[in-house]
Amino acid sequence: MLAHVRRVLQGWFVVCAVMVATPPVQTSAFAAGPSLPPSSLRRVSITGGSSGLGIKPLRSAAKLAEGSPAPVDVQSGGDGDGDGDGDGDGDGGGEPAAASLLAANPPLAEVDLEVFGLLKAEARRQRCGIELIASENFASRAVLQALGSVMSNKYSEGQPGARYYGGNEFVDQLELLCQARALETFGLDPTEWGCNVQPYSGSPANFAVFTALLRPHERLMGLDLPSGGHLTHGYYNQNRKVSATSIYFESLPYFVSPVTGRVDYDGLASSAAVFKPQLIVAGASAYPRDWDYARMREVADNVGAYLMTDMAHISGLVATGEADDPFEHSDVVTTTTHKSLRGPRSGIIFYRLHLKEKIDFAVFPSLQGGPHNHQIAALAVALKEAGAPEFKRYAQLVKANAAALATSLKKRGYTLATDGTDNHLVLWNVRELGLTGSKLEKLLEKVGISVNKNAIHGDKSAMAPGGVRLGTPAMTTRGLTEADFDVVAEFLHKAADLALRVQAKSGKKLADFLAALDAEFEAEIAALKGEVESFASAFPMPGPLEGGPLP
Ligand SMILES: Cc1ncc(COP(=O)(O)O)c(C=O)c1O
Repeated sequence: MLAHVRRVLQGWFVVCAVMVATPPVQTSAFAAGPSLPPSSLRRVSITGGSSGLGIKPLRSAAKLAEGSPAPVDVQSGGDGDGDGDGDGDGDGGGEPAAASLLAANPPLAEVDLEVFGLLKAEARRQRCGIELIASENFASRAVLQALGSVMSNKYSEGQPGARYYGGNEFVDQLELLCQARALETFGLDPTEWGCNVQPYSGSPANFAVFTALLRPHERLMGLDLPSGGHLTHGYYNQNRKVSATSIYFESLPYFVSPVTGRVDYDGLASSAAVFKPQLIVAGASAYPRDWDYARMREVADNVGAYLMTDMAHISGLVATGEADDPFEHSDVVTTTTHKSLRGPRSGIIFYRLHLKEKIDFAVFPSLQGGPHNHQIAALAVALKEAGAPEFKRYAQLVKANAAALATSLKKRGYTLATDGTDNHLVLWNVRELGLTGSKLEKLLEKVGISVNKNAIHGDKSAMAPGGVRLGTPAMTTRGLTEADFDVVAEFLHKAADLALRVQAKSGKKLADFLAALDAEFEAEIAALKGEVESFASAFPMPGPLEGGPLP
């Protein structure tokens, strides 16, 4: 027994020794304390340089292992208590090897160097790159701590107070707390609205709503994928039914105007009058403007349809009053929680109370099993953060930064879908340059800027989208301001210029473009990547591996 205590203490000592040896650099907005406004974020240069560091995860993991204490050797005993029985309690009784292993409970860095190395490499990639994927964000240390917690261990099928498993006293409290915070964060009256926080993510949340409110093969309408809608809103193409929504229900898309890039509400109204959907979905994955929910409600009412809003992308803006409120006009509102809301990967369904039973039943038992309680814990933390005044300031900055990025791109002569933005994203038209979104996405990846190709209104081919989607939530979390987004626009401009020169040599085929990029433009890519990394590394970063030396 004594040896067991010794092992645990020894483990703590090792952790502390590592912490002392490599004091964490204060780099995170979150580490500065949740009550500080984003404007007080400090920029700290991460020493050690940042350019041209090609990470080889496995080798860097092995390097990290150097100097780590040797893992406990359960085979050879070695418990150090001198009684020779290997269990360390001096009583001469045997202890199974598996129990010893658990008692030692070594940290990830000792248990699995490959995974640990990959985590470090990913942390470095995130810290040194510019993250412009509009659906991504950097969750706080507190959110990540709750995510990696004991709540992952627990089964709790059912609802708080009515579970199919014992031992749910604290899980019940947690889920109720999370629900209450969700309603409070979005300013909802609990006598009108309820919510289900069990969906594993946005797609299951949406499918649960369709399962709850529609019978198989009933009809729904959603914004077409190439118009900016999400797959789960019913996407199919001429060759196949792609989304399960289109397999199990009959879906019909509505579109953005090919001229303005804005939702064609008149077109939706006339299609709905013919198709007579039972449900209409508002909301999108790549739409830079606010929604006319009153108009959507009118169209839905005309055909007796439910109106569901999927606010996944903009829920952080909605929570803070920085986007129009979808609740007033919707029957159901779904959201992911890891985008502008800056929580863990998860989903929430908000429903008007008369729909509670149907929605809850669709989530469990119809679609899911045990809730992911670690996600629910982390979501509760994120909702608390989103309810704080600093988060309102954050959401305002997200929008200001997107507007600044739009202005900076236009200043450099580029065209944007709808000519600008009301929210957290811009859709950059690269088709008019003679490029495709795919080529620019690949080139930007090579220089440390993450974006995604996106269809843009007027595209002829869905296979070669002519747009690039750029979002500001993630880099705003890291403290970038409007002036910084002008620098980001300059990087994008340099990349587009490079892409045009590569294409002039390679011709239009993507494979030839990539081959020419690797063969003839290596030095230019490395130089631009160096600039990007030294810029990005200077901004703070939340997360468990923050502030450490670059691997
Ligand atoms: C509008 C919208 N709804 C739903 C989803 C699906 O979320 P998830 O990827 O968590 O399933 C997304 C994802 O990007 C989205 O943009």
